Amino acid sequence: MIDHFSFLAPYYDSLIAPPDTTRLKQILDIKPDNWVLDVGGGTGRVSSRLDDDSRGVILVDISRPMLKQSQGKNGVIPVHSSVNRLPFADGSVDRIIVVDALHHFNKPEHAVREMIRILKPGGRLVIEEFDVNIFVVKLIALVERLFLMKSRFFTPEEIVNLVESPEASTRIVRNGRISFWAVIEKDAQASDGSSH
Ligand SMILES: C[S@@+](CC[C@H](N)C(=O)[O-])C[C@H]1O[C@@H](n2cnc3c(N)ncnc32)[C@H](O)[C@@H]1O
Repeated sequence: MIDHFSFLAPYYDSLIAPPDTTRLKQILDIKPDNWVLDVGGGTGRVSSRLDDDSRGVILVDISRPMLKQSQGKNGVIPVHSSVNRLPFADGSVDRIIVVDALHHFNKPEHAVREMIRILKPGGRLVIEEFDVNIFVVKLIALVERLFLMKSRFFTPEEIVNLVESPEASTRIVRNGRISFWAVIEKDAQASDGSSH
């Protein structure tokens, strides 16, 4: 299997523009004592811009070459792991972001369940994705398929269905461009798993 991100890692930050995290920060609503987890965070392109607002930012990625590029970036703590089995306790993380990564996960439904598991009751998971309803995104999906990436893109409605958890609610925030945010809030009354 081709490991696209290991190949792209040294060039990634020069190929993909730095993000404007203003809206993302508003949606995340990070408190100063919050831990933020950036899952599929790659080179830290996004998470290195969140550190100032939180207690700390942990970047999880399955690609060691991508993680290597995050080293030394604004206090980001890199962790090598798959989203499918996150090395964090139930109900332990305040905020989770997933930017441009859900469509690369091999088991997206499982990934979402795993992230909800580690989210604190009252915590927030924000997934930023391209909206495959939009023509340009259909082209991006086609290009990724040509490069043999096993991407699976979602519409906002499909993400709402994919989350479908008895302990979380989802709303969609559109950015007026080609992507959107799925904002998933874990019920404040949900179990944090500590009784198991
Ligand atoms: C397009 S990059 C996005 C990186 C970063 N979020 C950004 O916006 O710059 C997708 C990332 O998802 C990671 N990834 C893919 N499958 C993963 C998995 N199962 N677990 C953790 N990370 C994964 C890749 O290694 C890659 O770094």
